[in-house]
Amino acid sequence: MSAAPVSIAIFEFLDSTHQDIQDHVRQLHGLVDAIESDGLNAATRALARRVLNYFNTEARQHHLDEEKHIFPALLASQDAEVVQAAEHLIQDHGWLEENWIQIAPSLEAAANGNLWFDPAELRHALDVFEALYLDHILLEESLAYPEAKKRMKGIDTIGMGREMARRRVMAQDEVRALA
Ligand SMILES: [Fe+2]
Ligand SMILES: [Fe+2]
Repeated sequence: MSAAPVSIAIFEFLDSTHQDIQDHVRQLHGLVDAIESDGLNAATRALARRVLNYFNTEARQHHLDEEKHIFPALLASQDAEVVQAAEHLIQDHGWLEENWIQIAPSLEAAANGNLWFDPAELRHALDVFEALYLDHILLEESLAYPEAKKRMKGIDTIGMGREMARRRVMAQDEVRALA
């Protein structure tokens, strides 16, 4: 595969991960609704486990991919707005991690069939998490990715594409299309 299609595949892959993240946030809302109305059962426990695993692995890995492959090109920019955006996005990853560690113990409990947490508090934490994620994704898709795409033109992105895809190929069938 030539460099150009792989480069495109990197951004398609990052965009599709944003869709996955938003899909899992929606699933998390559905889970809180279900727990509030019916408590825990086999289905809600399984959903809690699935969403917990997703944010513990894929979403964290997505942040690492951006910090390794996307943001350095922006931090090296002469454009102060671009540098500031990259710094802001890196800081967001820290806040998202903080928010996530407020949420994760409740999901771990739900997955294990324990309802010691307050679903209303979980909903509040989820609202904060979602609002930050949506703003974050918007800034990445409107500014960071387009700027990175410009700056990465002409450089060898094959290694990056392989590295990201290889990790996912092991876990997700759909990523095989990008490898
Ligand atoms: Fe990000
Ligand atoms: Fe992202």
